[in-house]
Amino acid sequence: MIKQSLLVLACFLSVSQAWWRNGHLMTARVAYDQLSKTHPHVLEKANQMLKGLSDYTTFERDYPFVECASWADEIKNQGLDLQSHWHFVDDPFFDEGYQKPDWYPEAYNVTWALKEFVKYLSKDPKPQNDPQIPVLFGEGFNLRLMIHYVGDIHQPLHSVSRFTQQFPDGDEGGNFFMLKEFDGITELHALWDSVVSAFSNDHDLPLNSTTWQFFGDNSLRIQQENPRESFDNLDRPIDQWHLEGYQIASDFAYKNIQQNEIPSQEYLQQGIKIAERQIAKGGYRLANLLVKMWDKNHTMTQQFEEKTFLQ
Ligand SMILES: *[C@@H]1O[C@H](CO)[C@@H](O)[C@H](O)[C@H]1NC(C)=O
Ligand SMILES: *[C@@H]1O[C@H](CO)[C@@H](O)[C@H](O)[C@H]1NC(C)=O
Ligand SMILES: *[C@@H]1O[C@H](CO)[C@@H](O)[C@H](O)[C@H]1NC(C)=O
Repeated sequence: MIKQSLLVLACFLSVSQAWWRNGHLMTARVAYDQLSKTHPHVLEKANQMLKGLSDYTTFERDYPFVECASWADEIKNQGLDLQSHWHFVDDPFFDEGYQKPDWYPEAYNVTWALKEFVKYLSKDPKPQNDPQIPVLFGEGFNLRLMIHYVGDIHQPLHSVSRFTQQFPDGDEGGNFFMLKEFDGITELHALWDSVVSAFSNDHDLPLNSTTWQFFGDNSLRIQQENPRESFDNLDRPIDQWHLEGYQIASDFAYKNIQQNEIPSQEYLQQGIKIAERQIAKGGYRLANLLVKMWDKNHTMTQQFEEKTFLQ
Protein backbone atom coordinates (compact mmCIF):
# COMPACT_ATOMS: atom_id res chain seq x y z
CA MET A 1 0.00 0.00 0.00
CA ILE A 2 2.73 2.41 1.02
CA LYS A 3 4.75 1.27 -1.96
CA GLN A 4 1.82 1.97 -4.20
CA SER A 5 1.29 5.48 -2.93
CA LEU A 6 4.98 6.20 -3.27
CA LEU A 7 4.76 5.06 -6.84
CA VAL A 8 1.84 7.37 -7.47
CA LEU A 9 3.75 10.19 -5.83
CA ALA A 10 6.79 9.41 -7.95
CA CYS A 11 4.66 9.61 -11.08
CA PHE A 12 3.42 13.03 -10.07
CA LEU A 13 6.92 14.20 -9.35
CA SER A 14 8.40 12.91 -12.56
CA VAL A 15 6.14 14.67 -14.99
CA SER A 16 7.18 17.99 -16.39
CA GLN A 17 6.40 20.54 -13.71
CA ALA A 18 6.57 24.28 -14.36
CA TRP A 19 8.45 27.14 -12.84
CA TRP A 20 8.14 26.30 -9.21
CA ARG A 21 5.51 28.51 -7.69
CA ASN A 22 7.74 31.58 -7.30
CA GLY A 23 8.63 31.85 -10.97
CA HIS A 24 4.97 31.82 -11.92
CA LEU A 25 4.00 34.35 -9.29
CA MET A 26 6.82 36.62 -10.38
CA THR A 27 5.74 36.49 -14.03
CA ALA A 28 2.19 37.38 -13.01
CA ARG A 29 3.48 40.12 -10.71
CA VAL A 30 5.38 41.76 -13.58
CA ALA A 31 2.17 41.73 -15.65
CA TYR A 32 0.20 43.05 -12.66
CA ASP A 33 2.63 45.95 -12.17
CA GLN A 34 2.48 46.83 -15.84
CA LEU A 35 -1.31 46.75 -16.02
CA SER A 36 -1.73 48.70 -12.78
CA LYS A 37 0.31 51.50 -14.29
CA THR A 38 -1.03 51.62 -17.81
CA HIS A 39 -4.34 49.70 -18.05
CA PRO A 40 -6.00 49.37 -14.64
CA HIS A 41 -9.38 48.69 -16.30
CA VAL A 42 -7.90 45.62 -17.98
CA LEU A 43 -6.61 44.37 -14.65
CA GLU A 44 -10.05 45.00 -13.17
CA LYS A 45 -11.64 42.91 -15.90
CA ALA A 46 -9.22 40.07 -15.16
CA ASN A 47 -10.07 40.23 -11.47
CA GLN A 48 -13.77 40.06 -12.29
CA MET A 49 -13.22 36.97 -14.41
CA LEU A 50 -11.19 35.28 -11.71
CA LYS A 51 -14.24 35.40 -9.47
CA GLY A 52 -15.44 32.44 -11.50
CA LEU A 53 -14.06 29.41 -9.63
CA SER A 54 -12.64 31.46 -6.78
CA ASP A 55 -14.70 29.39 -4.36
CA TYR A 56 -12.78 26.33 -5.53
CA THR A 57 -9.34 27.41 -4.46
CA THR A 58 -7.94 28.16 -1.03
CA PHE A 59 -4.86 29.84 -2.45
CA GLU A 60 -6.32 33.17 -3.46
CA ARG A 61 -7.35 35.98 -1.14
CA ASP A 62 -6.16 39.57 -1.56
CA TYR A 63 -4.13 39.30 -4.78
CA PRO A 64 -5.91 36.78 -7.02
CA PHE A 65 -4.26 37.85 -10.28
CA VAL A 66 -0.85 36.89 -8.91
CA GLU A 67 -1.90 34.13 -6.51
CA CYS A 68 -3.76 32.21 -9.21
CA ALA A 69 -0.61 31.79 -11.29
CA SER A 70 0.19 28.37 -9.87
CA TRP A 71 -3.37 27.04 -9.87
CA ALA A 72 -2.80 24.97 -13.04
CA ASP A 73 -0.08 23.00 -11.22
CA GLU A 74 -2.15 22.66 -8.08
CA ILE A 75 -5.11 21.11 -9.88
CA LYS A 76 -2.73 18.89 -11.83
CA ASN A 77 -1.28 17.60 -8.60
CA GLN A 78 -4.81 16.95 -7.37
CA GLY A 79 -5.39 14.73 -10.37
CA LEU A 80 -6.96 17.10 -12.89
CA ASP A 81 -4.44 16.04 -15.44
CA LEU A 82 -6.40 16.43 -18.65
CA GLN A 83 -4.36 19.61 -19.00
CA SER A 84 -1.00 18.19 -17.94
CA HIS A 85 0.30 18.06 -21.52
CA TRP A 86 -0.62 21.65 -22.16
CA HIS A 87 2.22 23.00 -20.01
CA PHE A 88 5.04 22.42 -22.47
CA VAL A 89 6.09 21.71 -26.03
CA ASP A 90 8.63 18.95 -26.53
CA ASP A 91 10.53 20.34 -29.51
CA PRO A 92 13.28 17.76 -30.12
CA PHE A 93 16.89 18.71 -29.52
CA PHE A 94 19.01 15.99 -31.13
CA ASP A 95 22.31 16.26 -29.32
CA GLU A 96 25.65 14.45 -29.40
CA GLY A 97 24.99 13.30 -32.94
CA TYR A 98 21.95 11.22 -32.02
CA GLN A 99 19.02 11.18 -34.46
CA LYS A 100 15.65 9.67 -33.73
CA PRO A 101 14.11 8.51 -36.97
CA ASP A 102 10.47 8.55 -35.90
CA TRP A 103 9.55 11.67 -34.01
CA TYR A 104 6.10 13.25 -34.29
CA PRO A 105 4.96 16.62 -32.96
CA GLU A 106 2.39 16.64 -30.19
CA ALA A 107 -0.67 18.52 -31.39
CA TYR A 108 -1.91 19.58 -27.96
CA ASN A 109 1.01 21.50 -26.59
CA VAL A 110 1.45 24.79 -24.74
CA THR A 111 1.44 26.83 -27.94
CA TRP A 112 -1.84 25.32 -29.00
CA ALA A 113 -3.32 25.79 -25.52
CA LEU A 114 -2.36 29.46 -25.27
CA LYS A 115 -3.92 30.23 -28.62
CA GLU A 116 -7.12 28.46 -27.60
CA PHE A 117 -7.35 30.46 -24.37
CA VAL A 118 -6.79 33.71 -26.19
CA LYS A 119 -9.50 32.87 -28.69
CA TYR A 120 -11.97 31.98 -25.97
CA LEU A 121 -11.21 34.87 -23.68
CA SER A 122 -11.19 37.52 -26.37
CA LYS A 123 -14.63 36.55 -27.67
CA ASP A 124 -17.23 38.84 -26.29
CA PRO A 125 -19.97 38.07 -25.64
CA LYS A 126 -19.39 34.37 -24.99
CA PRO A 127 -21.81 31.84 -26.43
CA GLN A 128 -24.70 31.85 -23.95
CA ASN A 129 -26.40 28.54 -24.53
CA ASP A 130 -27.10 28.52 -20.86
CA PRO A 131 -26.37 30.47 -18.32
CA GLN A 132 -24.02 32.68 -16.52
CA ILE A 133 -22.47 29.97 -14.46
CA PRO A 134 -20.69 28.02 -17.19
CA VAL A 135 -19.48 31.25 -18.74
CA LEU A 136 -18.06 32.46 -15.47
CA PHE A 137 -16.49 29.08 -14.78
CA GLY A 138 -15.08 28.88 -18.29
CA GLU A 139 -13.56 32.30 -17.99
CA GLY A 140 -12.15 31.63 -14.55
CA PHE A 141 -10.64 28.34 -15.72
CA ASN A 142 -9.17 29.62 -18.97
CA LEU A 143 -7.72 32.80 -17.54
CA ARG A 144 -6.04 30.97 -14.66
CA LEU A 145 -4.51 28.50 -17.05
CA MET A 146 -3.46 31.18 -19.49
CA ILE A 147 -1.62 33.15 -16.80
CA HIS A 148 0.19 29.98 -15.83
CA TYR A 149 1.10 28.86 -19.34
CA VAL A 150 2.55 32.21 -20.35
CA GLY A 151 4.95 31.54 -17.48
CA ASP A 152 5.59 27.98 -18.62
CA ILE A 153 6.39 28.83 -22.21
CA HIS A 154 9.07 31.23 -20.97
CA GLN A 155 10.72 28.54 -18.86
CA PRO A 156 13.31 27.37 -21.42
CA LEU A 157 13.12 23.70 -20.42
CA HIS A 158 9.40 23.70 -21.27
CA SER A 159 10.20 24.09 -24.96
CA VAL A 160 12.53 21.18 -25.47
CA SER A 161 13.20 17.50 -25.10
CA ARG A 162 16.80 16.40 -25.55
CA PHE A 163 17.46 13.17 -27.42
CA THR A 164 20.79 11.41 -26.99
CA GLN A 165 22.07 7.82 -27.07
CA GLN A 166 21.40 7.74 -23.34
CA PHE A 167 17.86 9.13 -23.72
CA PRO A 168 16.64 7.81 -27.07
CA ASP A 169 13.04 8.80 -26.22
CA GLY A 170 13.93 12.25 -25.01
CA ASP A 171 14.57 13.56 -21.51
CA GLU A 172 11.28 15.44 -21.02
CA GLY A 173 12.79 18.87 -20.77
CA GLY A 174 15.68 17.88 -18.53
CA ASN A 175 13.55 15.92 -16.07
CA PHE A 176 15.89 12.93 -16.56
CA PHE A 177 19.09 15.00 -16.47
CA MET A 178 20.04 14.29 -12.86
CA LEU A 179 22.16 16.60 -10.76
CA LYS A 180 23.87 16.17 -7.44
CA GLU A 181 21.29 17.51 -5.00
CA PHE A 182 21.52 21.05 -3.67
CA ASP A 183 18.76 23.31 -2.34
CA GLY A 184 16.32 20.46 -2.92
CA ILE A 185 17.11 20.51 -6.64
CA THR A 186 17.86 17.10 -8.13
CA GLU A 187 17.59 17.55 -11.88
CA LEU A 188 17.99 20.09 -14.64
CA HIS A 189 14.31 20.81 -15.22
CA ALA A 190 13.81 21.58 -11.54
CA LEU A 191 16.91 23.78 -11.57
CA TRP A 192 15.25 26.01 -14.16
CA ASP A 193 11.87 25.79 -12.42
CA SER A 194 13.57 27.29 -9.38
CA VAL A 195 14.84 30.15 -11.57
CA VAL A 196 18.25 28.48 -11.58
CA SER A 197 18.14 28.18 -7.77
CA ALA A 198 17.47 31.89 -7.17
CA PHE A 199 13.93 31.18 -5.96
CA SER A 200 13.95 27.65 -4.64
CA ASN A 201 11.84 28.33 -1.51
CA ASP A 202 8.23 28.65 -2.54
CA HIS A 203 6.07 30.94 -0.42
CA ASP A 204 2.76 29.87 1.06
CA LEU A 205 -0.49 30.92 -0.53
CA PRO A 206 -2.50 33.02 -0.09
CA LEU A 207 0.10 35.76 0.13
CA ASN A 208 0.28 38.08 3.11
CA SER A 209 1.63 41.61 3.13
CA THR A 210 5.21 40.41 3.64
CA THR A 211 5.24 37.92 0.82
CA TRP A 212 3.32 40.31 -1.46
CA GLN A 213 6.10 42.81 -0.84
CA PHE A 214 8.71 40.14 -1.62
CA PHE A 215 7.24 39.60 -5.07
CA GLY A 216 6.79 43.34 -5.55
CA ASP A 217 10.45 44.05 -4.75
CA ASN A 218 11.74 41.30 -7.00
CA SER A 219 9.38 42.17 -9.83
CA LEU A 220 10.57 45.78 -9.69
CA ARG A 221 14.21 44.74 -9.71
CA ILE A 222 13.68 42.30 -12.58
CA GLN A 223 11.90 44.99 -14.61
CA GLN A 224 14.63 47.52 -13.92
CA GLU A 225 17.29 45.07 -15.05
CA ASN A 226 15.20 44.05 -18.08
CA PRO A 227 13.13 47.05 -19.18
CA ARG A 228 10.53 46.74 -21.91
CA GLU A 229 12.72 48.69 -24.32
CA SER A 230 15.47 46.10 -24.01
CA PHE A 231 13.29 43.59 -25.91
CA ASP A 232 12.68 43.89 -29.61
CA ASN A 233 10.38 40.89 -29.89
CA LEU A 234 7.57 41.28 -27.36
CA ASP A 235 4.98 41.34 -30.14
CA ARG A 236 6.13 38.11 -31.73
CA PRO A 237 3.22 35.77 -32.49
CA ILE A 238 2.54 33.15 -29.82
CA ASP A 239 3.55 30.44 -32.29
CA GLN A 240 7.14 31.55 -32.07
CA TRP A 241 7.58 32.08 -28.35
CA HIS A 242 8.83 28.56 -27.72
CA LEU A 243 11.68 29.05 -30.20
CA GLU A 244 13.35 31.39 -27.72
CA GLY A 245 13.24 28.84 -24.92
CA TYR A 246 14.48 26.15 -27.28
CA GLN A 247 17.46 28.25 -28.22
CA ILE A 248 18.35 29.03 -24.61
CA ALA A 249 18.04 25.34 -23.76
CA SER A 250 20.19 24.10 -26.62
CA ASP A 251 22.80 26.89 -26.44
CA PHE A 252 23.08 27.31 -22.70
CA ALA A 253 20.97 25.24 -20.32
CA TYR A 254 22.30 21.83 -21.41
CA LYS A 255 25.84 23.10 -21.95
CA ASN A 256 28.61 23.58 -19.41
CA ILE A 257 26.78 21.37 -16.96
CA GLN A 258 27.47 17.75 -16.07
CA GLN A 259 25.03 15.08 -14.99
CA ASN A 260 25.28 14.03 -11.34
CA GLU A 261 27.25 17.11 -10.39
CA ILE A 262 26.41 20.49 -8.91
CA PRO A 263 26.39 23.24 -11.55
CA SER A 264 29.29 25.72 -11.46
CA GLN A 265 28.89 29.17 -9.92
CA GLU A 266 29.37 30.63 -13.36
CA TYR A 267 26.50 28.58 -14.76
CA LEU A 268 24.25 29.59 -11.88
CA GLN A 269 25.04 33.30 -12.18
CA GLN A 270 24.53 33.41 -15.91
CA GLY A 271 21.50 31.13 -15.75
CA ILE A 272 19.74 33.32 -13.17
CA LYS A 273 20.15 36.34 -15.44
CA ILE A 274 18.73 34.45 -18.40
CA ALA A 275 15.83 32.98 -16.42
CA GLU A 276 14.90 36.34 -14.89
CA ARG A 277 14.98 37.95 -18.30
CA GLN A 278 12.54 35.29 -19.50
CA ILE A 279 10.30 36.09 -16.52
CA ALA A 280 10.31 39.79 -17.38
CA LYS A 281 9.51 39.01 -21.00
CA GLY A 282 6.72 36.62 -20.00
CA GLY A 283 5.21 39.27 -17.71
CA TYR A 284 5.31 41.95 -20.39
CA ARG A 285 3.77 39.60 -22.91
CA LEU A 286 1.04 38.54 -20.53
CA ALA A 287 0.12 42.19 -19.95
CA ASN A 288 0.21 42.84 -23.71
CA LEU A 289 -2.05 39.88 -24.41
CA LEU A 290 -4.70 41.03 -21.97
CA VAL A 291 -4.57 44.58 -23.30
CA LYS A 292 -4.90 43.35 -26.85
CA MET A 293 -7.82 41.15 -25.88
CA TRP A 294 -9.76 43.59 -23.76
CA ASP A 295 -8.78 47.19 -24.20
CA LYS A 296 -11.46 48.46 -26.52
CA ASN A 297 -9.24 51.34 -27.54
CA HIS A 298 -6.43 49.14 -28.58
CA THR A 299 -6.02 49.30 -32.32
CA MET A 300 -5.55 45.57 -32.61
CA THR A 301 -8.70 44.59 -30.79
CA GLN A 302 -10.83 44.64 -33.92
CA GLN A 303 -8.66 42.35 -35.98
CA PHE A 304 -7.41 40.37 -33.06
CA GLU A 305 -7.68 37.01 -34.76
CA GLU A 306 -5.64 38.11 -37.73
CA LYS A 307 -2.09 37.27 -38.53
CA THR A 308 -0.56 40.01 -36.45
CA PHE A 309 -0.82 38.18 -33.22
CA LEU A 310 -2.26 34.73 -33.32
CA GLN A 311 -1.07 33.65 -36.75
C1 LIG B 1 2.55 22.21 -31.17
O1 LIG B 1 1.19 22.31 -31.51
C2 LIG B 1 0.93 22.92 -32.76
C3 LIG B 1 -0.57 23.10 -32.89
O2 LIG B 1 -1.27 21.90 -32.68
C4 LIG B 1 1.54 22.07 -33.85
O3 LIG B 1 1.31 22.66 -35.11
C5 LIG B 1 3.05 21.96 -33.60
O4 LIG B 1 3.63 21.11 -34.55
C6 LIG B 1 3.32 21.43 -32.22
N1 LIG B 1 4.77 21.55 -32.01
C7 LIG B 1 5.52 20.59 -31.48
C8 LIG B 1 6.97 20.86 -31.48
O5 LIG B 1 5.09 19.58 -31.01
C1 LIG C 1 3.64 35.88 5.95
O1 LIG C 1 3.84 34.53 5.63
C2 LIG C 1 5.15 34.06 5.83
C3 LIG C 1 5.20 32.61 5.40
O2 LIG C 1 4.80 32.43 4.06
C4 LIG C 1 5.55 34.23 7.27
O3 LIG C 1 6.90 33.82 7.45
C5 LIG C 1 5.39 35.66 7.72
O4 LIG C 1 5.65 35.78 9.09
C6 LIG C 1 3.97 36.17 7.41
N1 LIG C 1 3.92 37.59 7.66
C7 LIG C 1 2.87 38.21 8.18
C8 LIG C 1 2.93 39.69 8.28
O5 LIG C 1 1.88 37.59 8.53
C1 LIG D 1 -11.08 55.25 -25.27
O1 LIG D 1 -11.02 56.34 -26.12
C2 LIG D 1 -12.04 57.33 -25.85
C3 LIG D 1 -11.99 58.38 -26.95
O2 LIG D 1 -10.69 58.74 -27.26
C4 LIG D 1 -11.82 57.89 -24.45
O3 LIG D 1 -12.80 58.87 -24.15
C5 LIG D 1 -11.90 56.76 -23.44
O4 LIG D 1 -11.61 57.25 -22.14
C6 LIG D 1 -10.92 55.67 -23.79
N1 LIG D 1 -11.15 54.53 -22.92
C7 LIG D 1 -10.19 53.89 -22.29
C8 LIG D 1 -10.62 52.75 -21.47
O5 LIG D 1 -9.02 54.20 -22.39
